[in-house]
Amino acid sequence: MAEIILHVNGSERKVRALPETPLLWVLRDILQLTGTKFGCGAGLCGACTVHVEGAATRSCSTPVSQVAGKNITTIEGLSANGEHPLQVAWIAEEVPQCGYCQSGQIMAAAALLAKTAHPTDEQINSAMSANLCRCGTYERIRRAIQRVAQGGGAR
Ligand code: FES
Ligand code: FES
Repeated sequence: MAEIILHVNGSERKVRALPETPLLWVLRDILQLTGTKFGCGAGLCGACTVHVEGAATRSCSTPVSQVAGKNITTIEGLSANGEHPLQVAWIAEEVPQCGYCQSGQIMAAAALLAKTAHPTDEQINSAMSANLCRCGTYERIRRAIQRVAQGGGAR
């Protein structure tokens, strides 16, 4: 076990974990931030996407020691009150079905819009292609991202 200092959602958090423990398990099991989901555990589905220094990162395949001292943002920290423009747009476009993949989808979308404020559909498809949705909400995800890119809020 090692003592590792993380910066999660703006707060410093000290955790004890094996250095190779996936960040996902530290977030969910130690810090009780369960908005980030376990899907494949192998870097293939995107359900576990968080931001590390603003970049979309698969927390299931990121050893916690690799992110010591770095700024980590989870879905809980995306906005103080759940009113990030993407969260508002997600509701307006009624994106989720079962919802399981959606925190990962929103985190991937937020990383995209931080870099590219007005993405084309092709840029959205490319940025979001590694985030799988077994309910097939891709079209609504695209519409919600475009809604934010075009400055639209809730209906
Ligand atoms: S759970 Fe991490 S990519 Fe699937
Ligand atoms: S909403 Fe069900 S997996 Fe995406």
